[in-house]
Amino acid sequence: MNQRTIPLVKVGMPPSDVLMPALKATLYGGMIAEGEQVYEFERRCAVAFGLPHVLAMSSGTGALHASLHFAGVCPGDEVISTPITAEPTNVAVLQVGGTVVWSDVDPRSGNADPSAIERAITPRTKAILIVHYAGYPVDMVGVMEVARRHNIPVIEDCAHAVGARSASKPVGSYGDFAIFSFQAIKHMTTVDGGLLAFRDEALEGEIKRFRWFGMDKGVARTSLDVSSVGWKYNMSNVAATIGLCQLDEIESRIAAHVDNGRYFDHAFAGMRHVAPAHFLADDQPSYWLYTLLCDNSDAVEKALQEQGIAASKLHRRNDLHSLFARSQRPLPGADEFARRYLHIPAGWWVTAEDRDRIISIVERAV
Ligand SMILES: Cc1ncc(COP(=O)(O)O)c(C=O)c1O
Repeated sequence: MNQRTIPLVKVGMPPSDVLMPALKATLYGGMIAEGEQVYEFERRCAVAFGLPHVLAMSSGTGALHASLHFAGVCPGDEVISTPITAEPTNVAVLQVGGTVVWSDVDPRSGNADPSAIERAITPRTKAILIVHYAGYPVDMVGVMEVARRHNIPVIEDCAHAVGARSASKPVGSYGDFAIFSFQAIKHMTTVDGGLLAFRDEALEGEIKRFRWFGMDKGVARTSLDVSSVGWKYNMSNVAATIGLCQLDEIESRIAAHVDNGRYFDHAFAGMRHVAPAHFLADDQPSYWLYTLLCDNSDAVEKALQEQGIAASKLHRRNDLHSLFARSQRPLPGADEFARRYLHIPAGWWVTAEDRDRIISIVERAV
């Protein structure tokens, strides 16, 4: 019998009888660019994700660029970051002319370790950029304690982690800035899109100009003065309409990831030669991907793939890219994590039957 194949990531869309009438109203409503739907999306995201002030962006990468700019990173400045992430996190540092300084990770999670961050600080450090990798929260209490002591702004990359909580508080609510991605395969998608959360309300006007050519919206183009460089980073009403429909179901989608993640945590905690990724007792991962640590990750990956289950490491640790050659330094924690980790599907599309099947394949492979 052919077994069901299980993807590692999947596009989630609201039912067409919900999405299509909303999209049709926007598409034929006369205003498809940035407008009311975007502003409503921002208001609802702030409430749904427990964030201070938010602005919608065209992508998570645009939001990263803005956050680094407003954190004050200039050419020659150092940004402490992690190699265990998707490339946009660190490419954005180079976009503002910064230098990436790797801070080693906790080999049990792949996440930033506050004491390693502290050791990487120099007089040229302008920002600390952390990533809640795969949906597992970083120890934000520890990170913020180090950052405040050294008076360095913190940027949280929450692209994988919407709905996760660190020490019982939502990710993105700790840092001076936080970014989210609504790219195709995340917990929720606006096809492409992002969100920038920021603590200092006074920045709102400047960030709005940064996302729109340096110009103020709602002021006649013939009478406004452009005095700073801006980009084309705004979200459209079409993307926001998809986002608003997604918000109606994001809670149940995240709950399905969490339910699967907890089930795997329980099963793998008692198995030899594998272990669930580590997080603190009052943390709640949102398990965009499930992270399994294996004595032999290749063997487990092969066994799952042979049965149609898309297990994979998914990312290449960023310090191996030639673009970051000048940042190279020994990272024993990242070495150990990179050798041991494997992502397995845990999203809303994984059924109770699927997860038992995955567990028994892993059990036989180790
Ligand atoms: C960790 C991380 N940060 C940032 C981004 C960039 O987001 P976007 O694709 O929306 O630009 C991504 C990926 O897509 C990501 O995985």
